[in-house]
Amino acid sequence: VHAVGLIGAGRIGRFHARTLAGGIPNLRLAAVADAEPAAARAVAEEVGAEAADVDALLGAVDAVLITTPPDTHTELIRRAASAGKQIFCEKPLATTVADARAALEAAESSGVLLQVGYNRRFDARFRDVRDAVAQGRIGTPWLLRISSRDPGPPPAPYLPHSGGLFLDTTSHDFDLARFVLGTEITELAVRGASLVDPNAAAIGDVDTVVISLAFANGAFGAIDNCRVSAYGYDQRLEVHGSGGLASAENDRRPKALLADAAGFHEPTLPDFYMDRYAPAFVRELESFAKALDGGEVEVSGRDGLAAVIAATGARRALDEHRVVRLEEIA
Ligand SMILES: NC(=O)c1ccc[n+]([C@@H]2O[C@H](COP(=O)([O-])OP(=O)(O)OC[C@H]3O[C@@H](n4cnc5c(N)ncnc54)[C@H](O)[C@@H]3O)[C@@H](O)[C@H]2O)c1
Repeated sequence: VHAVGLIGAGRIGRFHARTLAGGIPNLRLAAVADAEPAAARAVAEEVGAEAADVDALLGAVDAVLITTPPDTHTELIRRAASAGKQIFCEKPLATTVADARAALEAAESSGVLLQVGYNRRFDARFRDVRDAVAQGRIGTPWLLRISSRDPGPPPAPYLPHSGGLFLDTTSHDFDLARFVLGTEITELAVRGASLVDPNAAAIGDVDTVVISLAFANGAFGAIDNCRVSAYGYDQRLEVHGSGGLASAENDRRPKALLADAAGFHEPTLPDFYMDRYAPAFVRELESFAKALDGGEVEVSGRDGLAAVIAATGARRALDEHRVVRLEEIA
C-alpha cells in the first residue's frame, strides 16, 4: 500500500481526499498540507489523515497528489521530484510552456512518474468513442466536435490563479481531442470574448470561445466553451469519419417519464464536474495506483505539456487574430 500526501485542500483536493478515503486499492491517504493550515486540518480530520506542512508531508509519503492552483504546480513538482516522490498533479501542468517543460524535466531527471489530472480520459462514454476510432469503426476520422459548457463561472478569487479559460477549461478539451483522435493538434484559430462573466472581463480573460483546429492526421475539429449554461453541465463529443459517426451525448439519467399539459419533461443536466465525472475521478486515481505498481501512466507529463502548448497557442491566436501553428509555440 502506498502512502499518499495531498497538497492543496481546496475544492478538488477535498474531493480527491474523499475518493481516497472511500477506498482506492493500494493507496492510503496519510497526510494533507495546504498553505492555509486550517484548510489542511479540516480535510485531514474529515478523512482520518494527518495535517502537515509540505516538508513534513514529503518526508512521510511515497506519492503526492498536487491539487493547488495552476501557478504553484511547477514549484511543488520540483520539490516532490527532488524528494523522490511519485506525482499526480491536477491539470493544467503549469501556466507557461517553460514551466511545463521544467516540471517534466524535474520528474524525468529524478526518475519519478508524473500523471496529470485530465480526468475526462477516464469517462466511459469518451473512452468508447476513442476505442471506436482506434478500432477503425468509423473509418478515417474527418471531423471532431466538442462542446464543453459550465453551469456557472468559478469563484471570483479563483480566476486570477486559474491560468485563464484556455488553460483552466479548454485544456481538458485539447487533451480529449488528442486522446480520442490519437494524433497531435497542429494549428488553431480562435474567436472568443467575455460575454457571461464580468469577473473574467475584469482580468482580461474570456469566458466564451469557439476554436477551430487542424490535426496531424488531416482531420479538422471545433471546440466550443462557455462559462454559463442555464441547463446544467453540458459535455458532448463526436467524431465523424468515412465509415460513420462516434458520439458521446450527455449523461441525462432520466428516471421516469414525466408529461403534463405543458409538455414532456426531462431532467436538466448533471450539476457540474464532481457529479458528471464522479466515476472518472475514481478511475483516474485507480490508474495512478496501477502506475505506482509499474503500470502505464495513462495521462503523462508529455500529455500535460501538449495541453499547455495548445492553450498557449489559443491565447496567441485570440490576441493576434490569426491562425497559430503550434510549432511556433513549442
Ligand atoms: N480535473 C478537474 O476537473 C478539476 C476540477 C477542479 C479543479 N481542478 C484543478 O485543481 C487545481 C485546484 O483547483 P481548486 O478548484 O481545488 O482550487 P481551490 O482554490 O479551491 O483550492 C486550492 C487550495 O490550494 C491551497 N494552496 C495554494 N497555494 C498553495 C501552496 N503553494 N502550497 C500548498 N497549498 C496551496 C489553497 O490554500 C487552497 O486551499 C487547479 O489546478 C484546477 O485547475 C481540476
